[in-house]
Amino acid sequence: MLSYRHAFHAGNHADVLKHFVQIQLHEYMNQKDTAYTYIDTHSGAGVYALDGGYAAKNAEYETGIGPLWERSDMPKQLADYVSLVKGLNPSGKMRYYPGSPYCADKAMREQDRLRLFELHPADAKILADNFRKVAEHAAAQGERPTARGKRVLVERGDGFHALKTLLPPPSRRALVLIDPPYEDKQDYRKVREALEDALGRFPTGIFAIWYPVLQRMESRQFADKLKRLAAKEWLNVTLTVSTPGPDGFGLHSSGMFILNPPYTLEPTLRQVMPYLVQVLGKDAGATFVIESGTQLTGSSTSRVGANGSARVPVGNARRASPTSGTGSLRLPGQAPAGTPGAAGAIGPRAPASTSSPRRTSGRPTGPSKPGSRRP
Ligand SMILES: C[S@@+](CC[C@H](N)C(=O)[O-])C[C@H]1O[C@@H](n2cnc3c(N)ncnc32)[C@H](O)[C@@H]1O
Repeated sequence: MLSYRHAFHAGNHADVLKHFVQIQLHEYMNQKDTAYTYIDTHSGAGVYALDGGYAAKNAEYETGIGPLWERSDMPKQLADYVSLVKGLNPSGKMRYYPGSPYCADKAMREQDRLRLFELHPADAKILADNFRKVAEHAAAQGERPTARGKRVLVERGDGFHALKTLLPPPSRRALVLIDPPYEDKQDYRKVREALEDALGRFPTGIFAIWYPVLQRMESRQFADKLKRLAAKEWLNVTLTVSTPGPDGFGLHSSGMFILNPPYTLEPTLRQVMPYLVQVLGKDAGATFVIESGTQLTGSSTSRVGANGSARVPVGNARRASPTSGTGSLRLPGQAPAGTPGAAGAIGPRAPASTSSPRRTSGRPTGPSKPGSRRP
């Protein structure tokens, strides 16, 4: 199913959670000199314009990067992520938002390897074009083009399949991001099966899986099923920004599930998640949950709610003013007429439910919009 276009959702609260966590994982990997491979099974287009095209349609960035843009009181790790986004916007105006491949490229070192997979022909082309431009720019700066060419590989193809071919990586160090659209409920099964296979091939890899927290059964059971996978340890963090409305539309909550998480991640999340709830939260339903556990028990060793105690909601969470910007790039939604995917653009990422204030699972939701990240 290729109706999903991430450009509609670029920079929303789910992207903030995902990319913030992704950067923390890169920073951990960077602590050792040995090179590592980053595998992005569902890469998207790499960079998104916020002021035009698809992203401007619903302005979902106003739920995520927008409110963080002008803040000067962020925890350091979150400020580092915002700085990375600002690096893409040298004018200071919020015009572009980086996808996971761009975040990886910025966070990783010369010796590391990026293996990027995207199935949608239009987004795969944009991704490849953008990395080609980066390579040309690097060559113009005197960097040997072959070095850069080996570092980044962009392929139009099925990321689930590609994962099988890349593990174990030559350096025996890898970070894998799995971020499918979940429009098709088969994605939940495919993620699990891909992880089972991947852990068999490479048990020590770090695997990060983004998922929407929705009412549908596949979503509600998803994290619990991942906890049973044969990884030594797991960590699950969810960010809920609001209580869903009666129509159930909109994505209110999402999670990042990490297999073999670095020990540094949980303390960082404990610092940053309350801040994200405070700034991105829209009502008293805003909250976060951090859980972690081990393979043997599969059970939770800690469940931290918004105020640091067990699964407690944040009250009086408030919404910061959104910031918007202007600009353009070779980006999804601004594709020339006739480019596949330029038409047939799809609606918001996912009508979703949030958890009730004390739980990460939620209430029944209304019907989904076509093309949303919820099937
Ligand atoms: C949520 S988006 C990815 C966003 C990106 N990871 C980021 O954070 O910037 C999901 C992407 O997966 C692509 N896709 C869907 N099925 C795929 C598959 N089997 N293999 C690779 N890409 C796929 C979609 O076209 C879409 O661009």
